[in-house]
Amino acid sequence: MRSDYCGGLRSADIDREVTLCGWVDRRRDHGGVIFIDLRDRDGIAQVVFDPDAAEHFELADRVRSEYVLKVTGRVRARAPEAVNPNMATGEIEVYGTALEILNTAETVPFQLDEHTDVGEDVRLKFRYLDLRRREMQHNLRFRSRLTTAIRNYLDGEAFLDIETPILTRATPEGARDYLVPSRTHEGKFFALPQSPQLFKQLLMVSGFDRYYQIAKCFRDEDLRADRQPEFTQIDIETAFLGEDAIMAITEGMVRSLFSELKGVELGEFPRMSYYEAMLRFGSDKPDLRIPLEMVEIKDLMAEVEFKVFSGPANDPKGRVAALKVPGGNDKLTRKQIDDYGKFVGIYGAKGLAYIKVNDKDDLEGGLQSPITKFLPIETRAAILERMQAESGDLIFFGADKAKVVSEALGALRCKLGEDLDLYTAEWAPLWVVDFPMFEEEDDGSLTSLHHPFTAPSCSPEELEKNPLEALSRAYDMVLNGTELGGGSIRIHNQDMQQAVFRTLGIDEREQREKFGFLLDALKYGAPPHGGLAFGLDRLVMLMTDSDSIRDVIAFPKTQSASCVMTDAPGTVDSRQLRELNIRLRQKKEEQVS
Ligand code: AMO
Ligand code: AMP
Repeated sequence: MRSDYCGGLRSADIDREVTLCGWVDRRRDHGGVIFIDLRDRDGIAQVVFDPDAAEHFELADRVRSEYVLKVTGRVRARAPEAVNPNMATGEIEVYGTALEILNTAETVPFQLDEHTDVGEDVRLKFRYLDLRRREMQHNLRFRSRLTTAIRNYLDGEAFLDIETPILTRATPEGARDYLVPSRTHEGKFFALPQSPQLFKQLLMVSGFDRYYQIAKCFRDEDLRADRQPEFTQIDIETAFLGEDAIMAITEGMVRSLFSELKGVELGEFPRMSYYEAMLRFGSDKPDLRIPLEMVEIKDLMAEVEFKVFSGPANDPKGRVAALKVPGGNDKLTRKQIDDYGKFVGIYGAKGLAYIKVNDKDDLEGGLQSPITKFLPIETRAAILERMQAESGDLIFFGADKAKVVSEALGALRCKLGEDLDLYTAEWAPLWVVDFPMFEEEDDGSLTSLHHPFTAPSCSPEELEKNPLEALSRAYDMVLNGTELGGGSIRIHNQDMQQAVFRTLGIDEREQREKFGFLLDALKYGAPPHGGLAFGLDRLVMLMTDSDSIRDVIAFPKTQSASCVMTDAPGTVDSRQLRELNIRLRQKKEEQVS
């Protein structure tokens, strides 16, 4: 139908006759001349109709926003005063000689320009219209270019693209499963994969050596701006490579994607242990663009009378830490400080003590704070010294269980970075390594920090003797405070795998029932192997500077894991349920009435 895309026309096309197809972005009537901004996936071209093209001019007068048109005309230079330097096609226009209305459109429910302030629920209900917006067109095109570049890179490194099943058994990655009832096996369910983890490991047992897949994963978990129930991983597995080689290949991929698609050279990624990350940044995904650091002051607080601090200071699981905001006295009002106190409450902190260092040399009158009255002079001096505080600085304090303090001050650190625009770099990638194998739950049970197939860096005996001390051979790639990807060297022998299962409280019967196929495979010559998976949506979100992964997914789910456009999930009729051997429990109210 068309000869050119609207957005592709340039001065070099002047005097060519072109045929364009697209949507009416805007129609203006200027004293007997009609201007139509015609839009397609490449951009916008201005088309002009004047009364000389009589019949078409009348038609042009009738078109409205979002009508679908086919226009033929001649490309000509705009008059100098009409040149629009902000528009890629701003030097030319198309003098229309023929017009066909391919379809009409009702008034759309919201403005399709970049300034739209309509709520996300409306955008998602009419997603097909929302996707016409330039920003969304850009994001999805970028995503397509990115996946092409990923495939090219991995193909160049001899990786094979192999698909794994969607209807499968539970693949534990720490979230709830989405289940699919089986019609042919009464009372049984498939689970949608939380990741292709076990299949990719089995492909290594089969000898494929280097696998990748751009794979859909499904997790029924609490959603946030960087989480969707259905998302995409760049999933990678290799055999006979150690962690350094795997990290080099995957880091190389991210570096080349940034270079190729954004012209950004990321350089070599630093490595940091989990322990150091938690200590200095209170997070296993530290945002290194922010120059603030947490400082441990547990030893200084052990003896003070102030129980809020001395309690956690004397608790082996407690933590007392401080966070200095250089020059913070002038930057933060009392109200802001109080608001930060509420903010850390989200993470379970019971308060947020602070000291405003007005004069660092006057330990009596120069410190403004709700807590100095509880602290002896020597302690005040020791804190200022430990914090290398200068007059004008503001110091925040957290005291509680270590987890609470790290999360609360870690989150405060990121919030301060954002609120005060403290960023020192545009991009700050790093690897976090040396994770513990297990985390202890409140009830004393253990869970895997990554997943149960991650190899520990100790023997099975040591692991079972001292599970909380064991480190794993896992590595996470972090970019600007977002966990972009994670992976590990895997367990490739049965004894070790069973030691991990036992430590997690999975008994022999459950091991056979759930993972029998894996334990069997490990017996038949499983090579040493390891890999990693990136969150593709998160990578696109960061690279397009989007606020949410919903903005880089064509048809995302809402925060409550539904699709407002198709109204999914939906009810099914009773015949279908009968076929699946499913009976729904009646809701309480119905039972009563
Ligand atoms: P993990 O669970 O860390 O590892 O997931 C890998 C990466 O996937 C992304 N991601 C998500 N993105 C959007 N929405 C979600 N709900 C979501 N959950 C995870 C993150 C994360 O870093 N099988 C292992 C990988 C391996 O060991 O090779 C796994 O799935 O960016
Ligand atoms: P209180 O004695 O409870 O009034 O607390 C005195 C100061 O300590 C207030 O500024 C509180 O915000 C702060 N505070 C209380 N609990 C904690 C805590 N667990 N960690 C850090 N600061 C706290």
